[in-house]
Amino acid sequence: MNIVVINGTPRKYGRTRIAAKHIASKVNGKLIDLSTLGLPMFNGEEELNELTNVQLIQETATEADAFIWLSPEYHGGMSGALKNCLDFLNGDHFRSKPTLLFSVAGGGKGGINSLNQMRLIGRALYAHVVPNQMVLDPHCFIREQDTLTEDAAANVQKLLEEFIQFADKMK
Ligand SMILES: Cc1cc2nc3c(=O)[nH]c(=O)nc-3n(C[C@H](O)[C@H](O)[C@H](O)COP(=O)(O)O)c2cc1C
Repeated sequence: MNIVVINGTPRKYGRTRIAAKHIASKVNGKLIDLSTLGLPMFNGEEELNELTNVQLIQETATEADAFIWLSPEYHGGMSGALKNCLDFLNGDHFRSKPTLLFSVAGGGKGGINSLNQMRLIGRALYAHVVPNQMVLDPHCFIREQDTLTEDAAANVQKLLEEFIQFADKMK
């Protein structure tokens, strides 16, 4: 099973990146890391398709059997970085592929907005977005160690196992 994990934070030191790296290692997945990839802003110009990084995300998405998207919650929504990445892709990359959503929020009951926005976009890309999803708040992280807490890691693990079971059946 080829699972592609998209880290949707533009921040190199963002918590979303910590979660994405953790998740990619747990599912033995390929990580598209938008905090380091340096994608240009999508503008619809054909010449952008010749850029190595654009080709890289398109090829990686084509080969994927399933996806895990992670976005920070910024100003009541998903990150522009993740939306911009998805604008370089299309329904052919996502159609019927199981997709799991995580949001990383500030702890003020945020997170649901970015999850809902990702869900809408997933539908528009014909992805099979699973109903289970998760918000990770600051208390889920040990900042000094750049890791998830034991409790958060256990909750994430449970969700990943359910997702992999489902994705296996879909395959
Ligand atoms: C520009 C900006 C806007 C934010 N807006 C929200 C918000 O609306 N709701 C929320 O819960 N947290 C908000 N936060 C806090 C982030 O969700 C929090 O810092 C989280 O760790 C983001 O992931 P990141 O660390 O990967 O950037 C915001 C942070 C930034 C930088």
